Amino acid sequence: MITPMSRILPAAVTLAVAFSSLSFADSLPKESFGQFEGKDVYLFTLKNASGMTVKITNYGGTVQSISVKDRHGKFGDVVLGFNTLDEYVQKAGTAYFGALIGRYGNRIAHGIFKLDGKTYHIPTNDNGNALHGGKVGFNRRVWDAKDVSEPGKPALELHYLSPDGEEGFPGNLDVTVRYSLDDQNGLHIDYYAKTDKDTVLNLTNHSYFNLVGAGSATILNHKLSIDADQFTPVDKTLIPTGKLENVAGTPFDFRHATDIGARIGKNNEQLKLGKGYDHNFVLNHPGDLNHLAVKVEEPKSGRVLEVFTTQPGVQFYSGNFLNGKVSGIGGIYRHRSALCLETQHFPDSPNHPNFPTTVLHPGEEYHQTTIYKFSTE
Ligand code: GLA
Repeated sequence: MITPMSRILPAAVTLAVAFSSLSFADSLPKESFGQFEGKDVYLFTLKNASGMTVKITNYGGTVQSISVKDRHGKFGDVVLGFNTLDEYVQKAGTAYFGALIGRYGNRIAHGIFKLDGKTYHIPTNDNGNALHGGKVGFNRRVWDAKDVSEPGKPALELHYLSPDGEEGFPGNLDVTVRYSLDDQNGLHIDYYAKTDKDTVLNLTNHSYFNLVGAGSATILNHKLSIDADQFTPVDKTLIPTGKLENVAGTPFDFRHATDIGARIGKNNEQLKLGKGYDHNFVLNHPGDLNHLAVKVEEPKSGRVLEVFTTQPGVQFYSGNFLNGKVSGIGGIYRHRSALCLETQHFPDSPNHPNFPTTVLHPGEEYHQTTIYKFSTE
């Protein structure tokens, strides 16, 4: 007897569904995001039990979207990003939206540093300095991606082998970055690296947050707290002078929650040099992942972002170079319509022996962790 197709099909479909839910229940949905320099680029979705989603592409290890609830339970995307790979390649320009930054996050003065008596030159790309890794940083590389999710813990592991001499940096650098999402709405970023020669390293993520939603007006009404008694003042090209300055009595005192806009227009030399806030804060509890380093509260949506990190510093950048010429997910990205909290070592550390060291030796394993945790109040 010939079994009618209609009777085979449902069984096959049921089997396929059962199989996929057995083997892939905790795997990450992945869609094609195009190709870059002959390599496949994907967009992965990490989703937790409460519905928070984080979308990450292996182009630049970029966080494309973070969707979290507001106080009424309505989901909204709170980071700037683009819907297409082409826009990341063509339009991101010098903004680094959501990207992984390396080898050296932030600036190295004149792109020059000395290590073990040798002088190294990194291509300059920012007022005569090297910014965020030189001309072609990790934000413009395609990373190998691996789904390393466990039951209830969506996770994506990205890997990049930066060859000896790339952008002028010494040593073959083997970098792994693991993004994972917990059930408390925390996005964990674990950075690991190993080298085969002495080198310098400062990895970070460059997400731009607006807790009202990407494309909303300004972040000047966001309330910010930073657990830092000091910051590193800069010169006119945003290179630290080397001094650690007390925040007390200055517009850089965020030890109590303060509106970002409250003092940004003050007649203050550092604010003028930064065109607003674009400064590294010296965290009071470096290395302590249990200590709240930064908190952002947005009164309208009720959304709250808390940052925990093992890093000694955080670059608070108030989106001063956004100018309304670029639009992306959510709308037009206007002046100060998003803020960055780049957890990191201090800018230009290789040229400041008094700053915590960024040197990595062969045989050592670099490991830093940052958690961006979302809630409402
Ligand atoms: C960092 C820098 C800023 C700016 C942005 C990207 O935050 O400190 O000056 O270059 O990156 O636009």
